[in-house]
Amino acid sequence: MDAITALHARRSHPVLTDPAPSGGDLDAILAAAAAAPDHGRHRPWRFVVIKGAGRKAFGEVLAEVYRRSAAQRGEQPNAAAEDRERAKPLRAPVIIAVACAAGGDEKVPHAERLAAVAAATQNLLLAATALGYGAMWRTGAPARSATVRDALGFAPGDEITGFVYLGSIPDGQELPPARRNLDGLVREWP
Ligand SMILES: Cc1cc2nc3c(=O)[nH]c(=O)nc-3n(C[C@H](O)[C@H](O)[C@H](O)COP(=O)(O)O)c2cc1C
Repeated sequence: MDAITALHARRSHPVLTDPAPSGGDLDAILAAAAAAPDHGRHRPWRFVVIKGAGRKAFGEVLAEVYRRSAAQRGEQPNAAAEDRERAKPLRAPVIIAVACAAGGDEKVPHAERLAAVAAATQNLLLAATALGYGAMWRTGAPARSATVRDALGFAPGDEITGFVYLGSIPDGQELPPARRNLDGLVREWP
């Protein structure tokens, strides 16, 4: 698929299935992410690939995060809600957790590192789309959880910026390209 077609075709697919990108395809997707623009060549992106049985282990981490946050709110954990958290990583055969490493300086402030990691994440989505896979960028409470960050082996200063769910789009669940309305968003100057 050419780049412009992939850019227009990319959609968020909430449920993905096998086959997952692996081998050369997964390498190509990760290499595309690492080809993102990056002020100062800081390479601030970090990627953790979660697949197979690792997804069940990740589900246990999400269940623990849910139990802890319920306890912090002074609530009894709800078994159904906990099971929903446990099942979330099973929505796709591969998940790539993406984080921005701590750092920044006068020339490249932290916001620009985050911008580079967002560009890398978009490259992940677009490379997956171009290779015929479906993808979805998710965040939510787990992205802001030190428990998740530590469990995935990210460094203490790393900031999770997303979980990219990857896999094949189930038959009949292809989404049409979204219509992008530019009204009021673009102008020429002066
Ligand atoms: C930083 C970021 C975080 C996101 N987090 C979530 C999320 O936690 N849950 C979710 O359903 N979608 C999430 N999305 C995906 C958006 O919901 C999705 O891109 C939007 O609905 C537009 O749909 P499209 O991607 O098919 O064009 C996120 C997107 C971005 C850029």
